[in-house]
Amino acid sequence: MKVKNSLQQLLHVLTNLRKMLILAWEMDKRVTFGYYFTAMVGALTPLIAALTLKYLIDSLVSVHSGVTTIPIIVIAILATRYILNLAENIIQWGLNVVYFDYLFRYTIQNELNRRFYDKLSNLDIAHLEDANTQNLISKTRDTMTWRPPDFLRSFSYFFSSFVGYAAAFIVLLPFGLWIPVVITLVTLPRLYLRAKYGTIQWSIYRSGAPGVRKIWYITWLLAMPEAIREMRIFQTQKTLLAKLRETQKYLFDLNKKPLDNYLKQLVYPPILETIVLFVIAYLQLPHVLVGIISIGSFTLLINMIDQLNGGAANAVANFGEMYEHSLYIDHYFEVLDLPKLIVESDHPVIFEKITPPKIEFRNVSFHYAGGADVLKNVSFVIEPGESVALVGVNGAGKSTLIKLICRFYDVTEGEILINDVNIKELKLSNWYKHMGTLFQDFVHYYFTVKDNIVLGDPTKQDEKLIIEAAKKAGAYEFIEKLPNKFDQVLGREYEGGEEPSVGQWQKLAIARAFYQSSPLLILDEPTSAIDAEAEYEIFNNLEKEYKNKTLILVSHRFSTVRNANKIFVIEHGQIIERGTHEHLMKEKGKYSHMFNTQAEGYK
Ligand SMILES: Nc1ncnc2c1ncn2[C@@H]1O[C@H](COP(=O)(O)OP(=O)(O)O)[C@@H](O)[C@H]1O
Ligand SMILES: [Mg+2]
Repeated sequence: MKVKNSLQQLLHVLTNLRKMLILAWEMDKRVTFGYYFTAMVGALTPLIAALTLKYLIDSLVSVHSGVTTIPIIVIAILATRYILNLAENIIQWGLNVVYFDYLFRYTIQNELNRRFYDKLSNLDIAHLEDANTQNLISKTRDTMTWRPPDFLRSFSYFFSSFVGYAAAFIVLLPFGLWIPVVITLVTLPRLYLRAKYGTIQWSIYRSGAPGVRKIWYITWLLAMPEAIREMRIFQTQKTLLAKLRETQKYLFDLNKKPLDNYLKQLVYPPILETIVLFVIAYLQLPHVLVGIISIGSFTLLINMIDQLNGGAANAVANFGEMYEHSLYIDHYFEVLDLPKLIVESDHPVIFEKITPPKIEFRNVSFHYAGGADVLKNVSFVIEPGESVALVGVNGAGKSTLIKLICRFYDVTEGEILINDVNIKELKLSNWYKHMGTLFQDFVHYYFTVKDNIVLGDPTKQDEKLIIEAAKKAGAYEFIEKLPNKFDQVLGREYEGGEEPSVGQWQKLAIARAFYQSSPLLILDEPTSAIDAEAEYEIFNNLEKEYKNKTLILVSHRFSTVRNANKIFVIEHGQIIERGTHEHLMKEKGKYSHMFNTQAEGYK
């Protein structure tokens, strides 16, 4: 069972090796070839050096004593020995270890990064909102810049060691096949221990992951101005620091225990190997004394059994490293292999005219993967140009409904029709041209004020429109008070950058929506931090602007909600009431109750 398991793991390392080598080869053939070729040449030079030493000694021994002129052959061999030295310096230490290693590493890193972020930026929202996938992505991000290049570097070391080993094996054959075979067998314990160590490292990383994340979180809290402010008053730093220390200690102990065990086992293989090497060399001594083996050959033998043993031991160690890196490389390929969940039709429908769409839900039910139904049998029609408000308590399913309109997810049952076409038939890039959306967690662009507005539609650059959008969103006043007005850089991280308040950020985001002026605007609680009066003003402007456009908004402020053409009251994933404000007030149901409760608060 165990053997089969190890074999599978070995094959898995080879699979990753194949993938990584293909990737490297596709990326840059010259650098990949150069890197591994120089590694191979570097590995062969010690062998040739050992051979020349043998000939040097043999020719010296054969020279009769008393001769005063040094034979040319001896000089030649001696010179070869040093030329090889030089070659090794240049090829291995210069070209391989410095030049190609550097080039190879950075090309690989850049390529891996590009592929990763390309994948991420096109990833389905469902993946991004999934905790396990988030976990996988963050693990990959932490290790992908160095594990994959290290894997390929370990392979280059492995390759050199193996070439050295194989060459020594061949050179040793004339002394008897048993010699290289026995030396090889003796290195097996190392292989076993190294593989074991690799797994241990990895399991620490896995089991320690929650601890590692906790440390990040605590240190992040400890450095965040908002948190520090609160901690100062509540006096919570001590507790947090204690938590940090406790988690650090837990991780340290977790890491130390297997290392201690490993250390104990580390000593025995070299002792065994050393004894075997000594015995093999010792057994050859009689042959040397009777002259069957020349002094030169004996030197070569000693050198070669060292190289064979060293090569095998290093190959094992290098393969162990590869094995360890390989486990992290799995994460990387797992991310790259995340399936596409939202699949577009082969012959998608494109709406040539970008006009306010008709949106229809027909018996739509939906649940997130592995969860309970969030929307249950929801049906409605939003005619072009209508404004619709969604109300309901937190968790009712309002944002989910909006995500379905954006086709971030596919419905579980029923269908969504846009202009009477199933949303699954649409070309999404075309559909997105119809809409602007602002979610509660919209982006704060740390660029200029102007950029924050223009990013609503970068295809146009219109000063007049920018100012108009800012005015309608109620942002103009505070922008005018900024030192550089519309050219003001935002974000306190930047020199001279101004940090707007939460409400001001929201106004900027709304200005962005005004600027984009799409036929369908979806606002999911982006005005929570804006005071009631300003929100009222903004929505008045929106009403005017969106007279003939479609507006879907989620708000907890009834002063805003009451003006919508249609109001959907959502509870537990169902629309329990619908109609105009007046209609719903007359019904005296949930809506009128909520409205009166809030109005009570304002009296
Ligand atoms: N990505 C998600 N994965 C799993 N469950 C989710 C996800 N997003 C929201 N939910 C769950 O769906 C329900 C509805 O959430 P949501 O639509 O955000 O409510 P609302 O916007 O009305 O406050 C909640 O129970 C919430 O926990
Ligand atoms: Mg929501």
